[in-house]
Amino acid sequence: MPLYRDKAEILEFFTQKGILLSPGALDIILEKNMGSFINGLLTDDVMNSGYISEKDLFRILEKPAPSSGRDFEIYVPDLVRDSSVEEFRGYFVSRYEKLRKIITTSIAMRGTSSISSAKKSTGEVKVVGMVSSTSVTKNGHKRIVIEDLDDSITVILMKGKKGFDEVILEDEVIGIVGSVSSGDKEKVIFANEIVRPDIPFRVIDETHKEPVYIASVSDIHVGSKTFRKDEFSRMIKWIKSSSEDSKQIKYMVLSGDVVDGIGVYPGQENDLEILNPLEQYEMLSDLISEIPGDVKVYIMPGNHDVVRLPEPQPVFSEKIRKMFNSNVTLLPNPFTLEIEGKQVLLYHGMSLNDMIELIPGANFETIGKAIEEILRRRHLAPRYGGKTPIVPSREDRHVIENVPDIFITGHVHSHAVGNYRGVRYVNSSTWQSQTDYQKMMNFSPNPSMLTLFDLNSRSILIRDFKG
Ligand SMILES: [Fe+2]
Repeated sequence: MPLYRDKAEILEFFTQKGILLSPGALDIILEKNMGSFINGLLTDDVMNSGYISEKDLFRILEKPAPSSGRDFEIYVPDLVRDSSVEEFRGYFVSRYEKLRKIITTSIAMRGTSSISSAKKSTGEVKVVGMVSSTSVTKNGHKRIVIEDLDDSITVILMKGKKGFDEVILEDEVIGIVGSVSSGDKEKVIFANEIVRPDIPFRVIDETHKEPVYIASVSDIHVGSKTFRKDEFSRMIKWIKSSSEDSKQIKYMVLSGDVVDGIGVYPGQENDLEILNPLEQYEMLSDLISEIPGDVKVYIMPGNHDVVRLPEPQPVFSEKIRKMFNSNVTLLPNPFTLEIEGKQVLLYHGMSLNDMIELIPGANFETIGKAIEEILRRRHLAPRYGGKTPIVPSREDRHVIENVPDIFITGHVHSHAVGNYRGVRYVNSSTWQSQTDYQKMMNFSPNPSMLTLFDLNSRSILIRDFKG
C-alpha cells in the first residue's frame, strides 16, 4: 500500500480522486500520521460529495472501543477501505465460497461441478455461480450469466420452468440444475431448477420453560426534534416494572440509529434538538441507565450513528462506550449474538431500501417480504452497491452463515413481525415521528412499539407505547 507522507503527496492523492480536502482535515491527516491509509477515507459519502471535512474524518475514523472483557468474540471490521481490484476479488470470493458451501448441502445440488467441467460434460449438470447479469431473450425467456472462481456461462431459464417467476438479482449466488447445450457453439445451460441457499425447513422445539424475553427496539433517533421521548421513557419504565411480562426480559437490543447524529443529510441541523452527537449519546445513556442492571443491553450502530457509514460498521468509540453502564455491550453492524443457545442475527437494515426497489411487491408497508427475500438468499445485502455502502474487505460479513432463530432489523421505520421457515423476524419499531422525507414519500411509520421474543418458545409479544 502506498505511503503518503507529506502534504503535497496527500493533496495530490485527493486531487487525483477529485476530492477536496478542508484545511482542518488535512491538518488532522498530517498530525495523526494517517498517510498510509488514506484510501480508507474514500467512503461512498466522500466520493459522492467530493469533499472531506474535519467532521467527516471524525465520522470515518473514530476508533472503535476495545472488545475485551466479554463472554463472546466481537469482530473488528477492516477500518481501511482499499478499493483495489484484489480487495474486490477477495470480497466476492469470500461471498461465493460461503454461499457455495450452503447451496451444495442441498440434496438437489449433490454432484455439483465447476462451470468449466460442466462445459465439457453432456446431460445433466449442477453448478453454483454468482449472477453477473440478467436479461430477457426475445422469446421472453430469462438469460442469466453466472460466474464461479474460474469461468462463466450463460444460463437460459425458459418460461414455465421451476423458478421462472423468481427475481434473480445481480451478485446473488445460486445453484443451477440443468442440461448443457450440445455442439461446438458457445455452451449454455438450459436450467430446470434454480436452487437458492435458503433457510432449511425445521421444526421448532417448543420447550415448556418459563419465558426469557429479548426486547427489540430500533431507530430511536435521540437528539432529533421528532424523537418520541415520553413514549420511550414510558417503555423503559414498563421494563423496570414488575409486571408479569417485563420481569422476564433478560436481554434488549437497540439495532442502530440510536441517535440522530449530525451531517447525515443536508439541513439536518434544523431538525435537531441536540446538535452535539456526544450529547445525544449522553441523553440515550441517561434514558437506558434506568433499565435494570440484570438486563443485558446490546447496541449496534446504524447510518445515523457516529461511526463510519460503510458496512460492516465498527462498534462506537471508547468515548461513547464510557457513557454507558456495564450491562451495555456495543456491537458492530451486522452481528450474530448467541444467547441461551439461540442465534440472534442483528442488522441495522440499510439494504432494505435496495430490496424494496428490486423485489416487486415489497414496500415499506410489506417490509416482511423484503426481509424474507434476504433470508432466502442468505445474504444481508444481496445486491452489491446500490444504497448500501459496503467495504470490500476480504471477508464478506453479510453472508448469513448460520440459520438464525431470530432476525432483528430496522432502518425503514416500519413495524413488522413474521416467521419464515421457522426464523422469527422483526423490523423493529422506531421511536421517531414521521419525518418530512417520509411525508414526502407518503409513508406513515409505526412508532413506539416494543417487540419481545421468547427465547424458549415461538411466541412474540408486542406492546404499543403510543399516545
Ligand atoms: Fe437507518
